[in-house]
Amino acid sequence: MKASAMEVLGGKHTLLNSFKKAFLPILTLVLLITIPLYLSNTSSSLLRSLNISSNATSISLLGKNDLASSPLQSPKTITNDSASAKNTHHRCNIFQGNWVPDSKGPYYTNETKCLIDDRQNCMKFGRPDNEFMKRRWKPDECELPLFDPVQFLELLRGKTLAFVGDSVGRNQMQSLVCLLASAAYPVDVSYIPDGKFRRWFYQDYNFTIAALWSPQLVRAHDADPDGFSPNSLMNLYLDEADEAWASEVENVDIVIISAGQWFFRPFIYYEKGQVVGCHKCNKKNITDLTCYYGYKMAFRTAFRTLLSLQNFKGLIFLRTFSPDHFENGDWNKGGNCVRTRPFTKQERKLDGYNLEFYLTQVEEFKVAEKEGRERNLKFRLLDTTEAMILRPDGHPNQYGHWPHENNTLADCVHWCMPGPVDTWNEFLLQMLKMEE
Ligand SMILES: *[C@@H]1O[C@H](CO)[C@@H](O)[C@H](O)[C@H]1NC(C)=O
Ligand SMILES: *[C@@H]1O[C@H](CO)[C@@H](O)[C@H](O)[C@H]1NC(C)=O
Ligand SMILES: *[C@@H]1O[C@H](CO)[C@@H](O)[C@H](O)[C@H]1NC(C)=O
Ligand SMILES: *[C@@H]1O[C@H](CO)[C@@H](O)[C@H](O)[C@H]1NC(C)=O
Ligand SMILES: *[C@@H]1O[C@H](CO)[C@@H](O)[C@H](O)[C@H]1NC(C)=O
Ligand SMILES: *[C@@H]1O[C@H](CO)[C@@H](O)[C@H](O)[C@H]1NC(C)=O
Ligand SMILES: *[C@@H]1O[C@H](CO)[C@@H](O)[C@H](O)[C@H]1NC(C)=O
Repeated sequence: MKASAMEVLGGKHTLLNSFKKAFLPILTLVLLITIPLYLSNTSSSLLRSLNISSNATSISLLGKNDLASSPLQSPKTITNDSASAKNTHHRCNIFQGNWVPDSKGPYYTNETKCLIDDRQNCMKFGRPDNEFMKRRWKPDECELPLFDPVQFLELLRGKTLAFVGDSVGRNQMQSLVCLLASAAYPVDVSYIPDGKFRRWFYQDYNFTIAALWSPQLVRAHDADPDGFSPNSLMNLYLDEADEAWASEVENVDIVIISAGQWFFRPFIYYEKGQVVGCHKCNKKNITDLTCYYGYKMAFRTAFRTLLSLQNFKGLIFLRTFSPDHFENGDWNKGGNCVRTRPFTKQERKLDGYNLEFYLTQVEEFKVAEKEGRERNLKFRLLDTTEAMILRPDGHPNQYGHWPHENNTLADCVHWCMPGPVDTWNEFLLQMLKMEE
């Protein structure tokens, strides 16, 4: 795979060309039409009614009284100081809730000493509104504690955390580094000078964060006679894990795996070295299979690989599908995302391909989780999809580059930093605390 041409970490050097090279392929999705917005008055969420992985997403939080005495807890939840409430614990699904106004604003700014990829540095490029940074996720039945960087670093002392996936996975990694910046700065200990495989080391905590670039999780090759382009054909070897992560992950303590928009592109699917079908390949003698088929098999292979690694003892998080929010056209036909307010969960539900991708990966996750129990490997669902479907306002849109740069494509896939992607790491911290 021509990785270097496909994905360039902009860092502080975003140019039009690198933007296009890096960004176009990720957006190789063919949206049938403008995403329809379903307005619905159902108050119970779809995920709740489907009862998806109720165990994996439920987090037992302390009773309110205990929370109030926690330094992590935001003051607004101090509601009950009755001693009798002291030891009450209740279970709360932190992934079901709404976005509420938060006057405190974000944890960091574009001036914070951390690497914000230009393409997600929305304030730098003049995004005029800032309400999108002043929202917090409010679970229905509890409060999501604030991110405490020192607590996070102490929990992960001596450990390695790896993000396996595409540039949206890296978006979360960069958010994490910025969230930790008020407590510690890492040094760059990358093995290779390629942001797709960046490694950050926190000396005082002996803690490493690594990015392992693998947008399809399985082995992939360019297969287009005209070379790589946004809609060029690739071969996808659905039963062969991508060595880019599989050979690196054995000594990792925590793996956060994800995949998304890359599965919309044209593929020829291989299994056992044979063509089994294709997606949008326009070849009459090859069976048409869906993008969901490729997505399912890629996760199946990734999870099986993790389950089969002899020395791997890590904790595995599946960060669920990150929805995009193109409106007014397809991604390559003038589509954009100009909203400045979140949806409420009454206004927008998870549906269409977002739902299909989500259910597809969760199904594979559940199989792996079960097998993991037998092998003493823990699989956890970092179940961000439902929260993020409500954030059409969280994407860079046109504010991932300078206005004079002739870029007609809007980014409604990645997430501005600071922005709602920071919540993924608030979730992560709470889940890590539960493992203690
Ligand atoms: C949903 O999960 C709850 C708790 O895990 C369980 O009691 C209930 O029976 C489940 N409902 C369905 C429809 O599976
Ligand atoms: C959910 O957790 C309960 C106890 O915490 C356990 O008995 C049950 O088997 C779990 N269910 C699933 C589907 O994992
Ligand atoms: C405080 O907790 C006690 C014991 O659980 C309960 O009886 C009381 O109603 C609670 N008060 C408030 C204001 O929530
Ligand atoms: C940060 O954003 C402000 C606008 O809010 C902009 O003026 C400034 O140049 C940006 N700084 C950096 C380092 O991006
Ligand atoms: C750092 O952590 C590694 C395990 O990840 C451990 O082998 C090593 O001894 C630790 N180093 C120090 C100085 O604690
Ligand atoms: C499909 O047909 C082409 C020639 O038209 C051939 O090269 C290719 O091998 C065939 N593929 C399969 C899977 O039969
Ligand atoms: C921007 O695009 C227009 C029309 O395609 C072209 O005339 C102009 O030269 C471009 N400007 C830059 C800076 O590339």
